[in-house]
Amino acid sequence: MLRDKYNLISELYELKDDASNSGMKVCVRGWVRTNRNNGHIGFMAINDGTCFDNVQIVYDIDKNPEFKETSKILTGCAVEARGEFVITPEAKQPFEIAAAEINLIGDCDSDYPLQKKRHSLEFLREIPHLRPRTNTFNALFRVRSVLCGAIHEYFQQNGFLYITPPLITGNDAEGAGEVFTVTTREDGDYEKDFFGKHACLTVSGQLHVEPFALACDRVYTFGPTFRAENSNTTTHASEFWMVEPELAFADLEDDMKCMESMVKYCINAVLERCPSEMKFFNDMIDKEHTLIKRLREVASSEFKVMTYTEAVELLKNSGRKFQYPVEWGVDLKTEHERYICEEVVKGPVFLIDYPKDIKAFYMRLNDDGKTVAACDCLVPGVGELIGGSQREERYDVLTKRMEELKIPRESLQWYCDLRRFGSVKHAGFGLGLERFILYLTNIGNIRDAIPYARTPKNLMF
Ligand code: 4AD
Ligand code: MG
Repeated sequence: MLRDKYNLISELYELKDDASNSGMKVCVRGWVRTNRNNGHIGFMAINDGTCFDNVQIVYDIDKNPEFKETSKILTGCAVEARGEFVITPEAKQPFEIAAAEINLIGDCDSDYPLQKKRHSLEFLREIPHLRPRTNTFNALFRVRSVLCGAIHEYFQQNGFLYITPPLITGNDAEGAGEVFTVTTREDGDYEKDFFGKHACLTVSGQLHVEPFALACDRVYTFGPTFRAENSNTTTHASEFWMVEPELAFADLEDDMKCMESMVKYCINAVLERCPSEMKFFNDMIDKEHTLIKRLREVASSEFKVMTYTEAVELLKNSGRKFQYPVEWGVDLKTEHERYICEEVVKGPVFLIDYPKDIKAFYMRLNDDGKTVAACDCLVPGVGELIGGSQREERYDVLTKRMEELKIPRESLQWYCDLRRFGSVKHAGFGLGLERFILYLTNIGNIRDAIPYARTPKNLMF
């Protein structure tokens, strides 16, 4: 559309099934993956990142001696190739370009780190500015992009309003105190600081978005969140993206229905729109090569529901030796979550009704007085994918809970006041985008699911 001077490799792949396209004049631009020749004929594989696959450019050195220079072009160089589109049903690749002309448009030094051999994900993590040029990250970031689009689509199609809460905030939504301070001062004197008070980066948009649900029925946020949690795991990042829908007139069951249908919608969208990328993750990243099959099954089956209490019983009777022992009342760790969804349920599961003492102050107290109407959606390979709850809509219950937890009222009186001004039951959840990517691709480490990972002691570029 915007490129009238050259063709995208993704477009060429759309032309390949119609034999009448053979002979078309085309021009592609991209980066050289490999370039080899036998002295007479050269083969250059280039990739422009618009699709997973490369295109092969064939150049005839015997016919055109200028191609002697072409044969010296190194991996990593940017080139422009013009020639004829040739459909090649018998060959390994479905088509190639018979080059009339190949121009070097961006030279590459010979110490380019991405030579042909396979690189480990750990090595690629050290070069986040170059890893988008590899197959793995080309596929990963395309899945990420398609997934983001599908998330917006799901909510827009279902009547949710997109709200963008602030990233700089005066309160720590979860009361956990794991925030990054935003300051322009060296001395920590926040009264004299930019905002005249302590400011931090948001850990969740939820508290800011609840007022919008209580005005517009269904809303969602989708943006970055920040947590100064010192967790060095494969599923924790210090900056990650979160989707947070909030539904008025909804209880926990409505909330779970929304989680389940959203997850299924996104799985189907990614499988449908990223077939070659997902095939790559299935064949090259997933050890069992059953990723696509598993996702298809998940998209067409009902998620199980289990109470926290039932899960604790299962864990205690499992005969497994966990690093962290389990008793009713403890917060479940990833090892427990994964045992439940991988070994017991063998698929996604909602754990509900957690003890109030391990959950946030705003979750609705159940009639037993001990548990809250909370829900975590656990998935194999990841553990917690979603955390959500019905919100406490009763002023007295909410403020009593805040007192118990010693959460200062001043900065959250506005939030409590929503319970005085037309309060209705409502519920919502938060889904971590990168954890969803881990689940969809099996890539294994959150540092590989985000363009530039921020984790403890790690801030490259
Ligand atoms: O369970 P969390 O902490 O819930 C909330 O923040 C609520 N305010 C959400 C809501 O009800 N609106 O976080 C929600 C999800 C988790 O289930 C997980 O997927 C992801 O956010 N998440 C992280 N992802 C990457 N790195 C971290 N450090 C994460 N912490 C949470
Ligand atoms: Mg949680």
